[in-house]
Amino acid sequence: MHKIIVANYKMNGSKKLYRHILNKLNKLELKDTALILCPPFLYLPFFKISNDAIHLGVQDISNTINKKSTGQISPKMAKEFGAEYSIVGHSERRSLGETDELINQKINVLLSSDMTPILCVGEKSKDENLNIVLKQLKDAIKGIKNHFELIIAYEPVWAIGTGEIPSIAHVNKVAKSLRKFLDKVDVDYKILYGGSISDENYQDMARSEIDGFLIGGISLEVNKFIEIVKGIDNE
Ligand code: PGA
Repeated sequence: MHKIIVANYKMNGSKKLYRHILNKLNKLELKDTALILCPPFLYLPFFKISNDAIHLGVQDISNTINKKSTGQISPKMAKEFGAEYSIVGHSERRSLGETDELINQKINVLLSSDMTPILCVGEKSKDENLNIVLKQLKDAIKGIKNHFELIIAYEPVWAIGTGEIPSIAHVNKVAKSLRKFLDKVDVDYKILYGGSISDENYQDMARSEIDGFLIGGISLEVNKFIEIVKGIDNE
């Protein structure tokens, strides 16, 4: 699998909308692109996948496997409904107080359950030093000893849901610094870009040194989403 596109549906959708989306996505014929669909937990049972290119993920996961965790969902539960991946450290969760320490715990919980983390990293504002992105990555995987798999979504917070995207040079600069560090770690990784990707701008951004996209808003507009997926798969 060469490219990855993650759909982060956030707190959106309904049984009806997801039925419509899945009807269309299940029919896609993809050569070299994997889709990872991340619905809200409640909708996982409605995600009946009949397409080998499509995988399921969740948007968050418990930081512990301690059963006394009211309101949390464990990897074991998510896996029972087909999830193989979990987004971790999305900026919308960091803004609710999710710390680098919690993110590190969640990544450890996922890896010990054979699930693959999709770690979101990104600077908050345009004038913030980009070293913060590498620090977020280092803190998230601190202490992991064994070989592991990781998907990183570089998402500048100022680009999420705003319609603004960074330059290709900016994305390449960050991707290069993350790769330089990761190439010394015992990890198989992919680096995605996320933040305001649409049917109008994905072709430009696809010229940067990334392995795919994490898409929020446009993932709910299935025809536009499919246009992006097909465009990337045909590259
Ligand atoms: P967006 O969201 O595509 O709507 O900007 C991306 C994200 O939040 O991950």
